[in-house]
Amino acid sequence: MVGGINNIDLDKLKAEVLEFEPELIEMRRRLHRNPELSYKEYSTSKFVADSLRKYGIEVVDKVGGTGVVGIIRGTSGKITIGLRADMDALPVDEQTGLPFASENPGVMHACGHDSHTAMLLAAAIILSKHKSELKGNVKFLFQPAEEDGGDGGALPMIRDSALENPHVSHVFGLHVVSDFPVGTFATRKGPLMAAPDGFSILVNGKGGHGSAPSDAIDPIYIGTQIINAIYGVRARQIDQRVPVAVSVCMVKAGSKDNIIPDQMYMEGTLRTLDEGVRKTMKEKIINVAESIGRSFGASVECKFIENAYPVTVNDPEITEDVIKILGTVKEMKVLEIDPVMGGEDVSRFLQKAPGTYYFLGTRNEKKNIVYPNHSSKFTVDEDFMKYGVLSHVLIAMNFANR
Ligand code: NI
Repeated sequence: MVGGINNIDLDKLKAEVLEFEPELIEMRRRLHRNPELSYKEYSTSKFVADSLRKYGIEVVDKVGGTGVVGIIRGTSGKITIGLRADMDALPVDEQTGLPFASENPGVMHACGHDSHTAMLLAAAIILSKHKSELKGNVKFLFQPAEEDGGDGGALPMIRDSALENPHVSHVFGLHVVSDFPVGTFATRKGPLMAAPDGFSILVNGKGGHGSAPSDAIDPIYIGTQIINAIYGVRARQIDQRVPVAVSVCMVKAGSKDNIIPDQMYMEGTLRTLDEGVRKTMKEKIINVAESIGRSFGASVECKFIENAYPVTVNDPEITEDVIKILGTVKEMKVLEIDPVMGGEDVSRFLQKAPGTYYFLGTRNEKKNIVYPNHSSKFTVDEDFMKYGVLSHVLIAMNFANR
């Protein structure tokens, strides 16, 4: 590990994080009460920008829409690292019963992005007090619209030069998960999260009477053959050792027991951990759908959502260092895990600036904090947040001093 963490006074940093903890919790609760959907994070981004300014941190706001970039300039400024948090909430009706539950009906921070935003704000504020100890610059990337898919929030920020002036060479980010207990971190070297490709298939047949299927072109029969064939592609045409998940999750067709409809429509998701396998699977799905349709006289339109997030890939060497850095804190445990098939648009930052994305546990059975991300009962054990803040601070102080 270049630089090492020996010159960092870990006990002093821990004490500073603990001292800031009440404000950290207050910030998270304030954000939790006011969740905003993708691209509409107006009051959230104002709160972020105002909080950074309050502590004298340089701010560029309205980056790629509602994104906010904070900058702490180091003594040499030769390198710049980026720390990223997402700010958006989900269209979920909160059922937690918390005293600081959502005051925005039908919208909820059900994925913990409120805690991500609060932890990165706290890290920025703590790091601003250590400015003279930083050689490189640290950029704080508060991004909108992670939940949106497609362009998401990272891409508009990148297009709006969030990673330039000064140029960011490495990006780091974290996500809270309900799978691991408080204090546990989890990551891996290489692909960590999948490319989440959504697709739709429309089978155009010819409707008719259920008693005379040969007079019709039955889109339901053809559609079900297509579903089987897609699963067959994964099972019989892709190496068994390669992770691929494909699921058709929505099917719409028909209106009555004796009417063969004109059309069947379906949607599904494809998850891959390798851009080559991703391309092959997409081509094969389109090919089997169209050719089965043709064989039975139907026309088939198979479309993949444009511009889905890429595979989230951690740089192996940087991640090795991150694992060592986090491992120096005795209260924190770092696991190396298998990849997960969820997707993340931090992948777009990592394509431009190699770095590490990692998970942070919030599970606490004693407090009944067990519900999964995106559940209407999802919540976090706020005790976990100090570890997240400490991880940001330690990573910044290490990588910005190389
Ligand atoms: Ni999330």
